[in-house]
Amino acid sequence: MINKKFNFFKNPNFRIVYIFARFKILRTLNKYSRILLEKFSKKDLVMGQIRKKNLILMRNKPVASEENYVEIQTDYSKEDILKKLKKDGLYEGLNLTKKTCISLKKLSDNCKLIHKRNNKVFKSLDEVNLFNNNNSKPCTIVDLIDDSKESISDLEKLLDQISRDEVLLSIANNYLGFVKNINTRFAWSTVCNSDIKWRAEEQTIDFHYDIHDFGFVYVFFYLTDCDELSGAHEVIIGSHKKKKLKHLINSAKSNESELKKYYDKENFKIVKGNSGYGFIEDTSAFHKAHAPIKKPRLALQIRYY
Ligand SMILES: [Fe+2]
Repeated sequence: MINKKFNFFKNPNFRIVYIFARFKILRTLNKYSRILLEKFSKKDLVMGQIRKKNLILMRNKPVASEENYVEIQTDYSKEDILKKLKKDGLYEGLNLTKKTCISLKKLSDNCKLIHKRNNKVFKSLDEVNLFNNNNSKPCTIVDLIDDSKESISDLEKLLDQISRDEVLLSIANNYLGFVKNINTRFAWSTVCNSDIKWRAEEQTIDFHYDIHDFGFVYVFFYLTDCDELSGAHEVIIGSHKKKKLKHLINSAKSNESELKKYYDKENFKIVKGNSGYGFIEDTSAFHKAHAPIKKPRLALQIRYY
């Protein structure tokens, strides 16, 4: 019994962050405390080390890259983007530069693909597809960041530089107060015959909102053309600020038909775009990924927090 009780409190679902970070007011308070902290602390301009863990590239105390990797497609200024992000929880209209896209694709073509759950490493996506064929436990996601090696590959170096792009870092800094850490994931989402439960354990294909921390924002880039049949992301506009009490106190996952009764139809936004297309999202809004049906998706996810 004592053991059971102990495990109950050790359950990550009951961590302070998990309980309280879902409330907008507490996230806003956290933002202003970060700004104050930054103002009064001595500025340490030395960038933190780059690390890898759980197929994720991590950078602490990021400093902006010298080169530009991202372009803003619209005539929005950074301030306009921030306003839109605060209002909608989403800003669409980023693009990786052509040069960045070409380099990323070239490096990812020669990259090992890793699936930890099946303990498999593949040389190519064709090899993954072969493995997945008639397999009841397919690799629905394979990752390109190799955390089994301490050394940082050219691909990983480029991903780190993109994540520290001046435009992205400046928007994230302004949105959050300031950015302490960046986590980057680069992965293929495959077309395969997976039962929904198996895929859902690897990829968030049901509507949910994230509760990683008191402040976080994501930038996504597609490296393949994406629509609802090829792995596009979907978000409920404005739901980072507006949730039912039931949404806040229960699971972060929600039933789609129930969400459709509460939020206006036009707020369900499938983010479609060609290779290189990107967007910024406060993923405390409800969102999900569409499982690819026609074409696989290669996507870069960068979390600032
Ligand atoms: Fe999520």
